[in-house]
Amino acid sequence: MAELVVALDYQDAESALTMARELEGQVPWVKVGMELFTAEGPAIVQHLKNLDFNVFLDLKFHDIPNTVKGAVRSATRMGVDMVNIHALGGRRMAEGALEGRDMGLTPGQEPPIVLAVTVLTSVGPGDIPLKDAPEPGALALDLAVKAKQYGLNGVVCSALEARGIKASCGTGFSCLTPGIRPAAVAGDDQRRVVTPAQAVQNGADYLVVGRPVTGAQDSRSAARAIMDEMHAALV
Ligand code: C5P
Repeated sequence: MAELVVALDYQDAESALTMARELEGQVPWVKVGMELFTAEGPAIVQHLKNLDFNVFLDLKFHDIPNTVKGAVRSATRMGVDMVNIHALGGRRMAEGALEGRDMGLTPGQEPPIVLAVTVLTSVGPGDIPLKDAPEPGALALDLAVKAKQYGLNGVVCSALEARGIKASCGTGFSCLTPGIRPAAVAGDDQRRVVTPAQAVQNGADYLVVGRPVTGAQDSRSAARAIMDEMHAALV
């Protein structure tokens, strides 16, 4: 069954923790991205773990293999449950990430899931700044197949691509999908957008939702409604 990940895109720990407490006991995952982590550092991860959330550290590492190895080792030591790198970093960078994950583990610790970002969901046709650029969905599929070959656990992609990626990479290869918008909600800066029901039907494993939950009048109810839609989509 697919799981909801709420993106805590906040400037400070107090705002993020206020939202987390509103969602506590209902939403299984929260995401700490570059805005919050740059402001608050590892302490925010610890606070969220203390509230019993699974934590996805979304820093999209993309650097030379040795640096990414060290970054993923540090993330693993921090106790995060999921971390991501860019697929475009290639095989040696991905292998560095997996090595860093293994180096950071303490005995008995569950290894974090390591995902590769394919193409951002805010990127639409015509947005890739390359001559003869491929179409975003086709590029995402190519990068997913590579990420699978590198031994990574899955990818970050649009739910528009999840079905094709599962068909090529197998059902055990995870698809984490941002760009989720309930039918009645605006897409904001996202381009490759899918409803929660459609994302689940396409085979997505983790649905990342930020503003439709954090910007709602009643965030707990908004999250509940998305999770209900996810469940209903499978019936
Ligand atoms: O508010 P919204 O639901 O658009 O938030 C989506 C979240 O997912 C943001 O935190 C964004 O950084 C993240 N994300 C994304 N596309 C990716 C990877 C992560 O939108 N490919």
